[in-house]
Amino acid sequence: MGFIIAVDGPAASGKGTIAVRLGALYGYPVLDSGLLYRAVGMKVLAEGGDLSDEAAATAAARSLEPAELEGPVVRTRAAGEAASRVAIYTPVRAVLRDFQRAFAAQEPGAVIDGRDIGTVIAPHAPAKLYVTASAEARAERRWKQLVSQGEAVTYEEILVDIRTRDARDAARADSPMVAAPDAVLLDTTEMTIDAAFDAARRIVETARSRWETAKG
Ligand code: DC
Repeated sequence: MGFIIAVDGPAASGKGTIAVRLGALYGYPVLDSGLLYRAVGMKVLAEGGDLSDEAAATAAARSLEPAELEGPVVRTRAAGEAASRVAIYTPVRAVLRDFQRAFAAQEPGAVIDGRDIGTVIAPHAPAKLYVTASAEARAERRWKQLVSQGEAVTYEEILVDIRTRDARDAARADSPMVAAPDAVLLDTTEMTIDAAFDAARRIVETARSRWETAKG
């Protein structure tokens, strides 16, 4: 098994940036698993479907193409909301699970960020982080990001989005958002992204030493 780094946590906690920087540090491929759910949600909408239609969401997941993960549409506020709606369906999760597990199995290692990487996709991952921050800090970051992308939204609207999404992601029956028992918690509320990455790097280095020792 390669050195899998699982980076879980709620929306806008900083986990995506941390995952990308860890990937660059170790030279491992990085998968933002949220993009898979975002692309499925936006595909349902683009085909004129309804997010409450489980069969439509499952068909969209089965026919997903790599090109559909690219571009600005999957980064929008609407895509985040659509992703969280289709993520409750067990068949959708099953289709995406196989893809994520194959990605995780790459040698010499891989980084994946999401909600259930350390619990469901790669429970055997030698390095697990659970990145959090207060809802207010996350709303502020996401709001700035969306405004810089040209979206006309208020901070208050994004705070409501974040709280709604947290509640939905944590309450779903299949693979809810929860820290793995062996994940190291990293609260980035008061941290710059550089400080957060530095803390994450130290956690992963400790996990790596342990993993190397166990390998012999
Ligand atoms: O990380 P993100 O904001 O791009 O994720 C969008 C939504 O996708 C999130 O609200 C829930 C869902 N998701 C999931 O259920 N499991 C994952 N591993 C990643 C994302």
